[in-house]
Amino acid sequence: MNVELQTCPVFGNDEAAVSFEPLSYGTLEVAILIANSVFPECVGSLESPDVEYRATLHPRRYRSELQALGVDAQQHWIVTRDGEIVGLTGLQHKTVDPFDVVWLGWFCVAPQVRGRKLGKRILQQTMSMARDQGYRILRLWTTTRPSEVTAQELYRRMGFRVTRKEPNPGTPFTRIYRRRKL
Ligand SMILES: CC(C)(COP(=O)(O)OP(=O)(O)OC[C@H]1O[C@@H](n2cnc3c(N)ncnc32)[C@H](O)[C@@H]1OP(=O)(O)O)[C@@H](O)C(=O)NCCC(=O)NCCS
Repeated sequence: MNVELQTCPVFGNDEAAVSFEPLSYGTLEVAILIANSVFPECVGSLESPDVEYRATLHPRRYRSELQALGVDAQQHWIVTRDGEIVGLTGLQHKTVDPFDVVWLGWFCVAPQVRGRKLGKRILQQTMSMARDQGYRILRLWTTTRPSEVTAQELYRRMGFRVTRKEPNPGTPFTRIYRRRKL
């Protein structure tokens, strides 16, 4: 996977420009704080922003965790607008998948700026970056948690079709897998 630094301003019709900045040592801790507050159920798990973000910056130190996660390449970005972090997004390639399949990772918009089309713009830009890197299929999973209702709707509207449903381990919720051609 191409892991070149990528900082790109993205303009929408009715919004200020947002920039995608690769996760860095300077933003690591604040990105983990934000992601933990949006995905509190993952705190303390192997599959968590804490482990995966640190592994992005220290792949050798986190080699065993990456192996256990089945991740062989990943990139994460913080999305800023006017210097403020407004969202997070990422791409992860899994060992078992074909070379042109990639997963969406820790995608979210900060609670105070939701409902202004930022989620849609960030997802579109993430898809575009994945496409530019040669990926052809974007996969993701969400759950039926009430906090993920907006995400389900966003993915449905953007053409991600459901491929599989299964119990989400340790919770009363269902895990919903989706995919979309890029
Ligand atoms: C999912 C999330 C990223 C969406 O970000 P957002 O900036 O609020 O979303 P947008 O304003 O771009 O709206 C996206 C779509 O969802 C719809 N939507 C917005 N709020 C909604 C709500 N409360 N219920 C249902 N649909 C909603 C909009 O109609 C919009 O579709 P449209 O543009 O076709 O009209 C954001 O809600 C979030 O971070 N959620 C928590 C984390 C999460 O669930 N991440 C995904 C896990 S894989």
